[in-house]
Amino acid sequence: MSLRTFVRSRKLGGALAATSVVALSATAIVAGGTSASAAPGCRANYTISNQWSGGFSATVTVTNLGDAISGGWTLEWDFAAGQTVQHGWNGTFSQAGTRVTVRNPSWSPTVGTGASISPTFNGSWSGDNPVPTQFRLNGTVCTGSVETPGETPGDTPAARVDNPYSGAKVYVNPQWSERAAAEPGGSRIANQPTGVWLDRISAIEGNDSPTTGSMGLRDHLDEAVEQAAGGQLVFQVVIYNLPGRDCAALASNGELKATEIGRYKSEYIDPIVAILSDSKYANLRIVTVIEIDSLPNLVTNVSPRETATDNCNTMKANGNYQEGISYAVGKLGDIPNVYNYLDAGHHGWIGWGDTQEQYDNFHASAKLFGSILGRNGATADKVAGFITNTANYSALEEPYWKVEDSVGGKIVKEHAKWVDWNDFNGEIDFATALRSELVKNGFNSNIGMLIDTSRNGWGGSKRPTGKSSATDVDKYVDESRIDKRIQKGNWCNQSGAGLGERPKASPKPNIDAYVWIKPPGESDGASKEIPNDEGKGFDEMCDPKYQGNPRNGNNPSGALDNAPLSGHWFSAQFQELMNNAYPPL
Ligand code: BGC
Repeated sequence: MSLRTFVRSRKLGGALAATSVVALSATAIVAGGTSASAAPGCRANYTISNQWSGGFSATVTVTNLGDAISGGWTLEWDFAAGQTVQHGWNGTFSQAGTRVTVRNPSWSPTVGTGASISPTFNGSWSGDNPVPTQFRLNGTVCTGSVETPGETPGDTPAARVDNPYSGAKVYVNPQWSERAAAEPGGSRIANQPTGVWLDRISAIEGNDSPTTGSMGLRDHLDEAVEQAAGGQLVFQVVIYNLPGRDCAALASNGELKATEIGRYKSEYIDPIVAILSDSKYANLRIVTVIEIDSLPNLVTNVSPRETATDNCNTMKANGNYQEGISYAVGKLGDIPNVYNYLDAGHHGWIGWGDTQEQYDNFHASAKLFGSILGRNGATADKVAGFITNTANYSALEEPYWKVEDSVGGKIVKEHAKWVDWNDFNGEIDFATALRSELVKNGFNSNIGMLIDTSRNGWGGSKRPTGKSSATDVDKYVDESRIDKRIQKGNWCNQSGAGLGERPKASPKPNIDAYVWIKPPGESDGASKEIPNDEGKGFDEMCDPKYQGNPRNGNNPSGALDNAPLSGHWFSAQFQELMNNAYPPL
């Protein structure tokens, strides 16, 4: 029997990762094992997507080259060096000694001719982690040819492009699209690309939740390959499950407790990495939007500031936001076709660049972002850029006035309540300036910015058409501004908001794209307490009657009433967003 094994290696965060296509050319050895129906031939591709001290993630993709299998499948291999499977997906795993057995999940007993199965697992190893040399499908040794779709032995991964959106289509989430199209008038925007949110562990497999529906990550990626139709396609996925998530609010608290960083790594990031590493998806440009609101919260909502919350103090003290984000950047960034973008708040939050430490959010945030570099394999080369305004309502720019304007002898920046010393007046200027500041803090000079324009349109009948002639500085700003929020710190289901610029690539220098990461029509939080098993709390900022807290300058919340839980479909908001769209639909 001759054995040809091709092993390609690349350095992953200091550890060695291997991709191996195992092909055994010789008479098939039919070893024992249950055979639900015959599998005369198969091809196995074993990929270690990540490896770290003591642990690793791998995927075995087996393509059935023989008759269709209908009554269930069993895949077997031996670990020669004492490796053990810890936790698996896409199959039921068991191990006896060196022998690993994976059986089909009950809901998926068939493998058509030419179809593949892709069990994925986290394992442990010590000393050495060699690739298994033989795989058997329903008892038959996989002897298929070494050619695997999308990957030829010896290929080096395509270099990342500077702007993944350039020249590419963007994935349309069929589940969001369907809900949008079902709304009166919704078909006008139902074909827009929106983000796929992995907002809890079960969303990776698909969990029939109103947020992610029944499609799991692989279902979306398979669909993305179809939408790409051989061309370039960006797939936008939101990584959103940090321990102690959403520390300054309650509406999007998550499933992982403040200390559960181990689960974040092994049950959330590792399985996502294993799936995204599948060579089937190697031609997609995968944009990851990493952990909305987290690091900015550690700047602005911690002691001794008046805006501090206990949860943010806890997360600052335990360091698990930085630990989780650097781990995510390190692991995801090992995948050659992944483009990591970190969330950086918005100008109405981080736009204060005061030289006094207690008022400086801008420089402090850039510095905090810089501090993740060098940790857990997170390097500057693994950060494609940053995103601002995710799921927020801040306008791109105010067309009719500037913070430097002087009204009745008063400078707007210093005297208008709406501005309150903020240096910026919109996301374009903010994102552009923050980009430079991030480069000063260790990020590459070619990083690009994304801006979420899903709900920052501010059109409709209340939109001003020119500059106010008022001589009172507050009146001047309030009559001139398009952003009609009561205060810039308001973030939940904002009344009066509209859809913003439609997604597009390279709209301004250094802005990689306008994107719709928050899917319009999905709520920011419930307007009253709703019991749920999603970890979501009730945040009064989503109650229209609430009069505020220090984080919104003690102003009314400006939220729409009758809102469902965050992520759930909110038809009335969707209608309002369409009515107030700017540019209009
Ligand atoms: C929610 C998530 C949801 C996302 C997108 C967040 O506010 O917490 O559950 O997936 O919005 O709608």
